Amino acid sequence: MSNVDRRSELARTAGRNTISVHVGEGTRRTLHEDVLDGLTRPSKELPPKHLYDTYGSELFDRICELPEYYPTRTERAILTARADAIVATTGMAELVELGSGTAAKTRVLLDAGRRAGTLRRYVPFDVAEQMVRATAGALAEDYPGLDVHGIVGDFERHLAEIPPPEPGCPRVLAFLGGTIGNFLPGARRFLAELAALLGPDDFLLLGTDLVKDPDVLEAAYDDSAGVTAAFNLNVLTVLNRELGADFPVERFEHVAFFDPERRWIELRLRARRACTVRIPAIDLEVSFLRGEEIRTEISTKFTRQRLAGDYAAAGLELAEWLTDDEALFALTLARRRLPDR
Ligand SMILES: C[S@@+](CC[C@H](N)C(=O)[O-])C[C@H]1O[C@@H](n2cnc3c(N)ncnc32)[C@H](O)[C@@H]1O
Repeated sequence: MSNVDRRSELARTAGRNTISVHVGEGTRRTLHEDVLDGLTRPSKELPPKHLYDTYGSELFDRICELPEYYPTRTERAILTARADAIVATTGMAELVELGSGTAAKTRVLLDAGRRAGTLRRYVPFDVAEQMVRATAGALAEDYPGLDVHGIVGDFERHLAEIPPPEPGCPRVLAFLGGTIGNFLPGARRFLAELAALLGPDDFLLLGTDLVKDPDVLEAAYDDSAGVTAAFNLNVLTVLNRELGADFPVERFEHVAFFDPERRWIELRLRARRACTVRIPAIDLEVSFLRGEEIRTEISTKFTRQRLAGDYAAAGLELAEWLTDDEALFALTLARRRLPDR
């Protein structure tokens, strides 16, 4: 963490509520290194976290409302049906949420925690700074008595910034929205890092999108209104703005397809015409052939068997499998595997 310019800031105090926000400025994004590494590979790629600047985060919110994008409403429906049971099973005193975004669905869990009288602290963790600030502020107002501790950071680098749990306060570590599917080459190493954050009384609450009809999957990532296309293309605007690049955004097009062998969706940006792009901040010139692509996201689709295998490899055990009637999406509770359990 030596290169992290951290500041802990008292953002708001209202009655008994305090929000402290830790901001990892310098390492919030690793854009320079990621772009240099990703665009000089034989198969060009960019990690998905750079899709989420403020505009990208707004576009993602719009995606969540699209008729084709079933994951958000399905996960919300599972949460709505099962939130009280999740709180009863876990005794959730603290909720830590990775990739929390606007925490819209999370409110269902926070409400259940409030009803049960167990919840004391909520820790939203996201790379999008404005989002963390806005979300933390709104929740502190809407949930009087709740301690909200927002963390701006990269969950691939800054998990150590999560404050330790208070003694005797069972923690739920939530990772919703199917974001676990974005990890390449696989989720296991990251799941093992999450396992290390769990005490014996803590649970992981994980949202995973499930394998299904490829047409349904592809429509969810290539909607008729073109919002996902705008979301994907926005990463080029991020590079133009942040690195002084001159990507001709209109010369690239959005591509989304399901890879049946790997069982994941891929998002790509394809050059409609050959072009050369200069990226002054990293002193790089990159040429694209006509039709050449940059992979910008993968989204792995799971089965129960695959997830149980991933959990086992990561030192976790599946405690509850919660799904919808059509088995579109699953929420699971998992615990650290202990020798005596
Ligand atoms: C697919 S959205 C899910 C948002 C929300 N949890 C939901 O279920 O609707 C992914 C979220 O993770 C955040 N994110 C992506 N990569 C991240 C990273 N490496 N570290 C921290 N947050 C990240 C994004 O900013 C975004 O808010």
